[in-house]
Amino acid sequence: MDHVQIFDTTLRDGEQSPGISLNATEKLEIAHQLARLNVDIIEAGFPIASPGDFEAVQAIAREVEGPIIAGLARANPADVDRAWEAVKDAARPRIHTFVSTSDIHIEHQLQATREDVKGLARASVAQAKALCDDVEFSPMDATRADREFTAEVIQIALDEGATTINVPDTVGYAMPIEYAGFLADLYAMVPELRNAVLSVHCHDDLGLAVANSFAGVQAGARQVECAINGIGERAGNASLEEIVMLLKVRSEEHGFDTQIETKEIAKTSRLVSRLTGYAVQPNKAIVGRNAFAHESGIHQDGVLKERTTYEIMDATTVGLDSNELVLGKHSGRHALRQALEDLGFEIDGQALNQAFKRFKEIADKKKHVTAMDLEALVTDELREAVGTYTLEWFDVEASTRRPPHATVGVRDPEGRERQGSFTGDGPVDAIFRAINVATGVDAQLREFRVDAVTGGQDALGEVSVVVELDGQPAAGQGVATDILEAAGIAYARALGSAVRKAQVAARADEDAALAPTP
Ligand code: KIV
Ligand code: ZN
Repeated sequence: MDHVQIFDTTLRDGEQSPGISLNATEKLEIAHQLARLNVDIIEAGFPIASPGDFEAVQAIAREVEGPIIAGLARANPADVDRAWEAVKDAARPRIHTFVSTSDIHIEHQLQATREDVKGLARASVAQAKALCDDVEFSPMDATRADREFTAEVIQIALDEGATTINVPDTVGYAMPIEYAGFLADLYAMVPELRNAVLSVHCHDDLGLAVANSFAGVQAGARQVECAINGIGERAGNASLEEIVMLLKVRSEEHGFDTQIETKEIAKTSRLVSRLTGYAVQPNKAIVGRNAFAHESGIHQDGVLKERTTYEIMDATTVGLDSNELVLGKHSGRHALRQALEDLGFEIDGQALNQAFKRFKEIADKKKHVTAMDLEALVTDELREAVGTYTLEWFDVEASTRRPPHATVGVRDPEGRERQGSFTGDGPVDAIFRAINVATGVDAQLREFRVDAVTGGQDALGEVSVVVELDGQPAAGQGVATDILEAAGIAYARALGSAVRKAQVAARADEDAALAPTP
């Protein structure tokens, strides 16, 4: 088998999706899970983008064991230095630097010349190489660029010591045959490329990201850049779970494999969905809730007789089978800790006490507490730890005869409780607007979604909201047995995230030295 490295960019390209804003605690939790998934490389962030991202990348580099930890840098000295500062404490650090080679980008975005681009590539790779042995270089928008010129820039990067060359289809424009042909041309024009790892990075604007990535592997690439649930700029990146399962399920035919621990896929997908607020579409390949469901009578009948009649893989392979009962109403702290450890969460001290309190509250209301309930609860606690706006309590009078009136108590980031009241169109509307009054933040609700964590009448409710503040979207989630409570928790968190984003944007505006992000 030919090994293909999985370079996960959920925490960098994925985090650039509209509305997503992960804090350091959340990024660290996802990075630990990516390590359990056994990805080869974690692109942990874009350290110069904000002090928060720098801290998150640094924490991941210091704490997460196993994968190579990469930080992204534009081709300029400040970016490369900042990326190195953030990743240098990792056991295996990598600097990933990039500059566009397409004329559209060179002319309009960089407002530079091809000669400038060659100089930037040379200088940034040389600078990165002086700091770090492992250097990746990407000619951005390569698939829309002049091939000879891109080859020239790649040659420069190799001359300066780049060890991985990544060829991005930045705007998701390529077709599989064309992309494979492009990579073959690059091998022909730059024979030394065979001494480096060739990498693919495909966006999904035409729904071809996974197909293009696979074509790239067939053309010689041995690193695939991808993201959990396919999140990323615009239509997203190649979805990690899809490319990994394609490589696994058809390995006998194509001869490639990865080191991914596929049983961790479903759990990683749920964690990323919860923390980003990006729902997974029900029919999403591999991780959608219908990916292994059979609706029509003929299909159900076939699967009951023999699973392989309508299934090409087993749900257990991707970890979609594990929602057994783990704890009961009378379980103690020790049993909870053990169950959480089995789920991959190492929780102690105050965090364990808090989780235990939440567990007891839920166990009182819910007959069965399952693995998925616990997972939802702990992820929710994680959000809590961030401490922005927190819903403390609410009263709402709901009636079909008069508009509902809500009063809420919200704890602000400084720890003060603030109260607000509002008469709204419905109980959810009244609570949300009362939270606006309490916080003094006048955000608009853009999306509102309720999911059940598991099946059954007593299922935990998980609410996701997206709000907009000053034109910027921000997401928040909440979990509770009561939907109104889950909604209020989610909304208060989204407001907190919106305020944080507005503060970061204001700081970035002040820093004129910052050019646009990739
Ligand atoms: O899409 C892209 O070109 C990128 C680069 C930074 C690799 O994300
Ligand atoms: Zn990208």
